[in-house]
Amino acid sequence: MQDKATLHLDGKSYQFDVFTGSENERCIDIQNLRAQTGYITMDPGFANTGSCYSDITYVEGSKGILRYRGYPIEEIATRATFVETAFLILYGELPTPEELKNFSARLKEHAPIHTNLEHHFSGFPTSAPPMAILSAMLNLVSCFHPEVLDVPTTGDEFDRTASLLLSKVRTIAAFAYRMAAGKPINHPNPNLTYCGNFLHMMFSDPYQEYEVSPIVDRALNLFLILHADHEQNCSTSTVRVVGSARANLFSSVAAGVCALWGPLHGGANAGVIAMLEDIHKSGRPAQYYIDRAKDKDDSFKLMGFGHRVYKNFDPRSIILKKQVDGLLRALNLDDDLLHIAMQLEEVTLKDEYFISRNLYPNVDFYSGLLLRAIGIPLNMYTVMFAIGRMPGWIANWQEMHEHNLRISRPRQIYTGKTARPFVPLAER
Ligand code: ACO
Repeated sequence: MQDKATLHLDGKSYQFDVFTGSENERCIDIQNLRAQTGYITMDPGFANTGSCYSDITYVEGSKGILRYRGYPIEEIATRATFVETAFLILYGELPTPEELKNFSARLKEHAPIHTNLEHHFSGFPTSAPPMAILSAMLNLVSCFHPEVLDVPTTGDEFDRTASLLLSKVRTIAAFAYRMAAGKPINHPNPNLTYCGNFLHMMFSDPYQEYEVSPIVDRALNLFLILHADHEQNCSTSTVRVVGSARANLFSSVAAGVCALWGPLHGGANAGVIAMLEDIHKSGRPAQYYIDRAKDKDDSFKLMGFGHRVYKNFDPRSIILKKQVDGLLRALNLDDDLLHIAMQLEEVTLKDEYFISRNLYPNVDFYSGLLLRAIGIPLNMYTVMFAIGRMPGWIANWQEMHEHNLRISRPRQIYTGKTARPFVPLAER
């Protein structure tokens, strides 16, 4: 028998279905609340609001659990490639060798971008933030592939569009960097892996082909895997909201890129490094920044700390901390910023302000250090996050269509002026 929740309101009782998810998460389904009672719920920031039922990613914030399609992030991060992970997120199962071969071949096929699209890059000022270029270019790709404007949400056409997007996002990102740096673009090389090809497009020079080290290739795979999906976060919810108006996949993910850009979301990875560099250069003790973060009259926040869902630890940050340390050793590098980051973490773990608010390092705290070690420039950090998040955005967009969700349209409670007569200009 299905559980019911009873609401007593204005002397009447109303019943609502209680739904239990596959991991025993529970919700009260209030889809008929307004129709039955005339009331709406109020939940700014949606901290208590479920917007969908989803089969893709499971996050249990109090225990630091993250699973893609049931597989623990700790296993995927060490045993899969990003391409396998993307397939898993999109299609629900790890690919067979044959499926992986076909999927990889599709990604290779779609890596180049139309020559006319290439010309658009030179229209941006060299100071243009790569996130702005990425969002604009993702929208623009659809002009060169008009067939995707009305993309089916399942079947061969959807598969083609999904791989086109997964592949081209990487080319666009690398081209944006090369243009801004005033360097010639490098066309994709079909003989390279997904990550190796990206590194080649970023760093090869006319007289010096970039040599992809397996260590760096693996580190980039890990970074992208850890960012591949995270259920209904700000950017994924944005993709769903835009897609709910039946906007095409390209426009929906372009909007996701804009949401991700914000410093409270994906922009935090660059914010962390800027903060660590500032600590390093200024010579101020970490405590100075911690005191500022705790000061109610100061808008400063400790970047890379806190999370809406994780209230114990973020498993991605644990994996990254370990991997960054190993990567630096393997590359024979020592980074002062890693020492500062670890010191900052240590101090916060003993600080009552951070303990009482359950503020721990999130994915962004150590991820920038990994990108720094493999030579990715700071203004590309959030772009890297966007490349990683692409499978999650596409899978959520697809699932939303599969579930035939209604257009996203929240309500509000109006608190402005009540009706009043218009005042003619001469009388104001
Ligand atoms: N530094 C200092 N104080 C913080 C921080 C922080 N990084 N994060 C939260 N707090 C404080 C808040 O001021 C609040 O204090 P109060 O109860 O005294 O008012 C309390 O902790 C609860 O925080 P909320 O703002 O309610 O948490 P919310 O869930 O709304 O926001 C967020 C989560 C946006 C991640 C926030 O912790 C933050 O801004 N962190 C810094 C930016 C960051 O690292 N973002 C990346 C997040 S991960 C990702 O998106 C990929």
